[in-house]
Amino acid sequence: MALKIRPLTEYFGAEAQSVAVSGRCDATIIEQIRSLWHEHKILLFRGQSPTEQDLVEFSRRFGALEIHVRTEYLSSANPELLLVSNMMQDGRPIGILSENEVGWHYDQIYLPRPALGSLLCAVKIPPAGGNTYFADTASAYEALPDATKKRIEGKRAVQSYEAFNNLYSVPTSKEQKKRTPDIDQPLVRTHPFTERKSLYLCAGMTTRIVGIPEDESRELLDELLEWIVRPEFVYCHEWRAGDCIIWDNACTIHRRDPFDSRHERLMKRTTILPPPKLAVPF
Ligand code: OGA
Ligand code: MN
Repeated sequence: MALKIRPLTEYFGAEAQSVAVSGRCDATIIEQIRSLWHEHKILLFRGQSPTEQDLVEFSRRFGALEIHVRTEYLSSANPELLLVSNMMQDGRPIGILSENEVGWHYDQIYLPRPALGSLLCAVKIPPAGGNTYFADTASAYEALPDATKKRIEGKRAVQSYEAFNNLYSVPTSKEQKKRTPDIDQPLVRTHPFTERKSLYLCAGMTTRIVGIPEDESRELLDELLEWIVRPEFVYCHEWRAGDCIIWDNACTIHRRDPFDSRHERLMKRTTILPPPKLAVPF
């Protein structure tokens, strides 16, 4: 039986109905979800109440899971889960990103082998704020003028986790810094499965384009980012507790609104790795 789908925007995103996010999904459902994930780029499942074990087992059906470098924010029972939260326990934050704005980014673009996807599930949601926006960087690339496509062809850009953290998060430890030095990645990425091209850059993390003057690089990066986040390429998700979203981390970026620190927000995330042969962005 084919899964029922409701599109979220004209270009990308879909809600998949009557799926339970759990480790017990049968193989045909998993294959349908995999292909819908590639086709729609983000998939929403509503009304979920998965256990941590369910989140880990469901995610694992799509690839090996990364243990995130920010080990201080991992679930103690299931280190494959990264907590995204402003909640405190024993005087320290249990999760990453607190209640601040988080700028447009790809997860892990700063690693040589970035995640291919993330599954983010809402456990506790504040009454207002904290919306997450997704932008379709493949449709944005395809709609670029030919002259711009030519201008960026074959270029690489520097990705700095440190620069991103300075703007939107907290610094890494010495040990973590060693694992996340600045690196360069292709500015136009080819999707390892669909082979569609997308713009591969973020706000705050992408510091410069290699091989062109600094001011030209800044201007071009700003222009490209502004293009990606035009309203037609963006979906804004207003979370309800029980929502889970899996996104394609090779062809979408996301950002989050801030929210009032007097309210608690708790999300649990897995980070899904590509198969080793396709892991290095090209
Ligand atoms: C993430 C992320 C945004 C949010 O988990 O990778 O960017 O809405 N989260 O909490
Ligand atoms: Mn993220």
